[in-house]
Amino acid sequence: MDKPKIAARQPIPVDLEEGKRYSWCTCGLSDNQPWCNGAHKGTDFAPMKFVAEETKTAYMCQCKATGNPGFCDGAHKNLPE
Ligand code: FES
Repeated sequence: MDKPKIAARQPIPVDLEEGKRYSWCTCGLSDNQPWCNGAHKGTDFAPMKFVAEETKTAYMCQCKATGNPGFCDGAHKNLPE
């Protein structure tokens, strides 16, 4: 697997909590989108870990093509069919 799986073609809104750690799924295989559930094991993918800088609703990328890892940047609009 050299490309991530497109888990969904739209972002998902989530409520992030300031100071809390998150692991965004980069492989697209997780059943718990947008978060890692360990499904990347055996692939070259690893989750992107980050700490939320503020409490807010964020639109997390599920297509895995974003240029701003973790967060939707609109790239899902340009995915191949
Ligand atoms: S869902 Fe991936 S860029 Fe919007």
